[in-house]
Amino acid sequence: MSEPITLAALETDPDPILAALRRDQPVAFVDALDMWLVTRWDDVETMENDPSTYSAATEPSFLARALGDNMLTTDPPDLERIQGLFRPTFRPSGRSGGFVSDELVALADSLIDEVDPAGFDVMTELAQPLAAASLATVLGLDHHGFDRMWAWCEGLCADIANFENDPALTEMGRVAREELGEAIATRIDTARDADDGSGIGAFVRAGASPTEIVNNVRLMISGGINEPRDGIGLVVWTLLERPDLRSIVRDEPAKMQRLIEEVFRVFSPVGTVTRQTTSDVELGGVAIPAGALVAGVLRSANLDETRWTDPLEIDLERREGPHAAFALGAHRCLGEWLGRQVVRVGVERLLARFPDLRLDPGADVTLHGFEFRGPTSVRVIAA
Ligand code: HEM
Repeated sequence: MSEPITLAALETDPDPILAALRRDQPVAFVDALDMWLVTRWDDVETMENDPSTYSAATEPSFLARALGDNMLTTDPPDLERIQGLFRPTFRPSGRSGGFVSDELVALADSLIDEVDPAGFDVMTELAQPLAAASLATVLGLDHHGFDRMWAWCEGLCADIANFENDPALTEMGRVAREELGEAIATRIDTARDADDGSGIGAFVRAGASPTEIVNNVRLMISGGINEPRDGIGLVVWTLLERPDLRSIVRDEPAKMQRLIEEVFRVFSPVGTVTRQTTSDVELGGVAIPAGALVAGVLRSANLDETRWTDPLEIDLERREGPHAAFALGAHRCLGEWLGRQVVRVGVERLLARFPDLRLDPGADVTLHGFEFRGPTSVRVIAA
């Protein structure tokens, strides 16, 4: 690589940098990040299949600092016990299933009722509140309102990404952590007295301790709102830019799920999985020392030319196996079923209500971010 890689360049447009790394230096130490980037599918898969060498219990851990120890800072075998306490709620047979079949459509419709057809931003007026309210409802925190959920999510995420220890971001994180801790503790008390049907109630009955519930619900809120939000924005944008894809899903609604998978593959809203080596190791022919931080770049694995034919093309007939947008290994996404449904229903209800929906020609859509990447706004006109 001729130019040194910077975080700013990765956040603006990571794909040319990642393509060059895949070609020339697929396991590369990047000074600006102080970590290794692993960019080929096979090497990311090797990392994901070997949690005893590539540990999630990193030191330092910004995630543990911002949220407290949680499943994403824990390695097997403890990991399986913790996941077992929380997974049932996010299966179709758990609270998520009831929410999706009985409440999600009405929730999406109520938000769409409020937009101004003359012009609105899909991100702030539909995607963000729908993602926040969906998770809040499943957990049993919906009475706090989706604005409050979103503020907690932003506060926690600001602290997680506070690599330079900015005191303002630390304070945002502290406020979110404490307020959320109190809200969760109150719900735990209610659920102890009577089965309230909430996700948090299910965690109590599964035997999770209060600390395990508080820390892991913080993790869910920091990770389970931004991604469905970005997913909705990316799918709407893709459909409005590509009339050919829009007419396919209009004629064959079952293809919507394939479209969503392809959008997740091409855009990978969660860019990396970051781990720490527990011993000296060789990956892709490169020696990595013990104690190194290593980021498996999901976004790059999802665009690896050796795995995908014409990787940047959204191909609804693609049959090349699963993508890595929800990760591949021990920490594969807990909320992936729920997240996919929130994206599907949000997009379907929006297009059903406004068949003439189009992008606002006066407002470009720009994507931003490396670790988390999505559109900053998607302005549309429906009238
Ligand atoms: C729909 C878009 C979503 C995407 C693309 C996504 C992506 C991911 C990825 C890539 C990971 C692995 C992170 C790592 O290994 O470092 C992950 C883990 C996780 N996700 Fe999601 N996620 C989504 C939605 C959700 C939702 C709705 C929830 C709600 C609960 C959620 C909760 C979690 C949790 C708790 C983990 C940690 C799992 C573990 O450590 O075992 N995600 N997600």
